[in-house]
Amino acid sequence: MAYENLLYEKKDQIGYITFNRPKLLNALNRKTMEELGDLLSVARDDAEVRALILTGAGEKAFIAGADINELAQRTAIDGKEFSLFGQGVLHMLETMGKPSIAAINGYALGGGCEVALACTIRLASRTAKLGQPEVKLGIIPGYGGSQRLARLCGKGAAHELVLCGEMISAEEALRIGLVNRVVEPAELIPAAEALAKKIIANAPLAVKFAMEAIEHGMEMPQEEGLFLEAALFGLCCATEDMREGTRAFLEKRPAQFKGR
Ligand code: COA
Repeated sequence: MAYENLLYEKKDQIGYITFNRPKLLNALNRKTMEELGDLLSVARDDAEVRALILTGAGEKAFIAGADINELAQRTAIDGKEFSLFGQGVLHMLETMGKPSIAAINGYALGGGCEVALACTIRLASRTAKLGQPEVKLGIIPGYGGSQRLARLCGKGAAHELVLCGEMISAEEALRIGLVNRVVEPAELIPAAEALAKKIIANAPLAVKFAMEAIEHGMEMPQEEGLFLEAALFGLCCATEDMREGTRAFLEKRPAQFKGR
């Protein structure tokens, strides 16, 4: 399927999603979010895709936020709908059962930082700049930034970023735990691919259930999270891949996982 604002490519079980409005620093308009929602459901249901890498077209930006041309027209009623719609798309990204890696190649601001926050893992180029500048426009983060940032980096860091609205460097993002790793610009996609390949080599259902245990567990009191973990652990024990993985270890050979 051809998209207006996204590029999509599949290679070696990785789906590459590129936000593609480089003249506007890949700003997210409604159309882009609709396309992202469609594409994520296609990738979720495609057995050939085991992991996603998300990045931005051009040298400058991952995503420089929501499209301010559209934002300027929002009313109270459609503003709420706009926020709920975007939150829904990013919730799908977060919970689709396949790992997503944000390859942050430049500005990741506002909605761009929120897209990265909804990914499973974040890698940043040394030149990237991240931030939640919404308060400078008279709004607050609307695609989950106020929630995911506080959960990922703690309340203090979230307050500072969201209330000051200033950009931080990739190194500072690493220091506060907003990104997992910082690499040279030319190493960004290779590093994301290497990470995706490590995950893809593991048992597919175990990867999916581990993500579910972490994602859903974060929303629960620890006791319930532990119960969820035990239930998913039990489910893993019913898979062919668990038999294969344990047998392969004992037979000192690489496992051949089938996702069953
Ligand atoms: N929405 C719409 N257009 C945007 C945009 C956004 N979020 N971010 C950048 N653009 C556009 C600019 O208006 C400009 O368009 P033009 O060439 O028609 O004038 C083009 O992208 C290039 O941006 P420019 O500002 O000239 O680049 P810069 O290198 O001087 O600055 C930024 C880069 C990211 C610092 C600056 O563009 C910026 O602050 N963008 C807005 C970030 C923001 O507040 N996002 C959160 C929205 S909730």
